[in-house]
Amino acid sequence: MKLINTIAALKTLLEPLKTAQKRIALVPTMGALHKGHVSLIDLAKQQADIVVCSIFVNPTQFTDPKDLEKYPRPLEHDIKMLEDAGCNIVFMPSVKEMYPVKENWHIDLGNAEFLLEGEFRKGHYQGVTQIVKKLFDAVNPDLAFFGQKDFQQVLMIENMVRYFKLPVQIITCPIIREGDGLAMSSRNIHLSAEDRQHALVLSKALYYVKEHFAAEPVAELLAVAKKMIDSTPGVVLDYFTIANGETLLPESDKQVKNLVALVAAKVGETRLIDNVLLS
Ligand code: PAF
Repeated sequence: MKLINTIAALKTLLEPLKTAQKRIALVPTMGALHKGHVSLIDLAKQQADIVVCSIFVNPTQFTDPKDLEKYPRPLEHDIKMLEDAGCNIVFMPSVKEMYPVKENWHIDLGNAEFLLEGEFRKGHYQGVTQIVKKLFDAVNPDLAFFGQKDFQQVLMIENMVRYFKLPVQIITCPIIREGDGLAMSSRNIHLSAEDRQHALVLSKALYYVKEHFAAEPVAELLAVAKKMIDSTPGVVLDYFTIANGETLLPESDKQVKNLVALVAAKVGETRLIDNVLLS
């Protein structure tokens, strides 16, 4: 496994592989890797010849400087995990490498940018798409793998790819959960034992909705799910919605094809998101 810090070195390494028509996959991450990330690498390995994983804690997507500061950075652990997972190249640039000069970035990501996470983290998806575009420019991958846990993120990245007409296929990979249902996340590390127990209500509420989806009206499902969360100590709900998976607008018509239930809440001091596909 090769460790690379600069875009120039990465391009030099990838050029002969591209000339030899190797299929290149990119798995962008911010590090603090867990089994969810390993599942992305596994899927990438099945579909590509070379897997590049980037580790970069991207400052432009953080709306709260304290959140950026406390973002976990266990680099040695991450490198070991990627080595064990069979990743070929790790790209770990500095902030200066990715943002050598101050730049303005704003693209039209559609109305969904301002809903859900966009409402609570203003400008977040501009920062995400800014760095993902830079990573795509550096790697020029055939395929890029993202987790479904960040459902809205995948949608925004797909919109960015369409906006620039980029020749990359976006693959959405299933959420990986702990045995008790908690969706794996780099942020789980911040949960105390008590918080972690309380956090289980998020996946329980989502699965309640999924299990009762055929039998109960949407309004009733939402009422029960919100009550479950509101009655759990230490959990403050930001939103729980059943939405159209393309527009992210709330949807009460169960005949709509791609419905998804999405939740975000603060558990103790940690903000968590999760979702489940309903149709
Ligand atoms: O999902 C993440 O870890 C980040 O948002 C991403 C896609 C690597 C961009 O920084």
